[in-house]
Parts: sequence; structure tokens; C-alpha cells
Amino acid sequence: MELYEAIFSRQSIGKVRPDPLPRSLIEKLLAAGAQAPNHYKVRPWRFVVLTGTARERLGQVMAESFQARFPQVGDEALEKERAKPLRAPVIIAVGVEKPGEPKVDEVENICAAAAACQNILLAAQAEGLGAIWRTGDTARDPKIKQFLGFAPDQHLIGFIYIGYPENPPVKPERPSFEDRTVWLENQPNF
Ligand SMILES: Cc1cc2nc3c(=O)[nH]c(=O)nc-3n(C[C@H](O)[C@H](O)[C@H](O)COP(=O)(O)O)c2cc1C
Repeated sequence: MELYEAIFSRQSIGKVRPDPLPRSLIEKLLAAGAQAPNHYKVRPWRFVVLTGTARERLGQVMAESFQARFPQVGDEALEKERAKPLRAPVIIAVGVEKPGEPKVDEVENICAAAAACQNILLAAQAEGLGAIWRTGDTARDPKIKQFLGFAPDQHLIGFIYIGYPENPPVKPERPSFEDRTVWLENQPNF
């Protein structure tokens, strides 16, 4: 798929089939993620790939964390939370490495990891996959970070859910850039 076609056709797709993805395809997406720009070449993205029953273990931790946040919650809501990671056969959790030296800025590391996420989304689009970037309370929970191997003060910027789309994609309609753009151009006599 041509680059602009991938950019303009990409959309969040949450409904995907449960069929597993070949590991080589997941690796191709990760490799695309790792091409993102990053200041001082620190490659601050950290990918945790969850497939198979690892998603059930994540669901268990998510349900426990949900119950800790909302102690009154009933079984049905807990079950719903537990099942969330099963919405796609592959989840890539993306964490951000803390700066290891003073010149490295944490916000820049977050920007680089976010660029890696977008690369993964575009690569998924080019492969005919459906993907969605998800966050929410789950992404800020220290217990969930711990399960994924991240420190409590490390940013977990998203869970990218990926699979083969259930429905044929429809071209997304999006607002243009005009109302979010100003132009500062040549001025006479300056
Ligand atoms: C940082 C980030 C977090 C997001 N978190 C969620 C989320 O938790 N749940 C969700 O349904 N979509 C989430 N999204 C996807 C957005 O809702 C989606 O990109 C937006 O609706 C625009 O739709 P599009 O991706 O199809 O263009 C997130 C996107 C970003 C960039």
C-alpha cells in the first residue's frame, strides 16, 4: 500500500476476528515502530507483545485493578473488564523508558514512543489489519505496569489492539487541517 493511502485510510478498528497473526507479521509491525524518530537515538519505546493466554493474565490484573478502584462493582462488570484484552488476538503495550542522562527529556521520549505507535498503526493498515490505540485508567495503573514489567513512574502510553478486521473498512471522513493551522509567511519590507 502506498504511504498516503495508508495515512488517509487508517482508522481505529476495534472489531477484529480472533484468528492469530503470524509472528513474522507482528515482528514486521514492531520493526516499523522502531523506525520512529527519537532524540539522542535513545530508542525509548518498550514493546510488550501479548498473545494467547497472556491476554487472559492481563485481563485478570485489569479486573483486580478495576475492583480496587471501584470496590462496589458487581461480577458482571468485573467479567467485562477481564474480557477486554480478548477483543483482539494481539496487543502491543507501549511503554516509555525514563531518561538515563540529563540531556534526555522525558517528553521527547514520550513523543518518540507515540511516533512508534503511529508507525505501527500505519504498518497495520498497510497489511490490511485492523488496529486501535487504547488507553484509559488501565494505562495509568501501577499494578498493570508492574505486570508488564514497567516501573510505576514509567509512562505506559497505550495498548495497540490488532487483528484481522471483522468488517470491510469504510473510508473515514475527517475534518481538514485548515482550522488548526496558521501560516506565517513572507512579509513585504521586513
Ligand atoms: C493516545 C490515544 C489514546 C486513545 N485511547 C483510546 C481508548 O482508550 N479507547 C478508544 O476507543 N479509542 C482510543 N483512542 C483512539 C481514538 O479514539 C481515535 O483515534 C479517534 O476517535 C479518531 O478516530 P480514528 O483513529 O479512526 O481516526 C486513542 C487514541 C490515542 C491517540
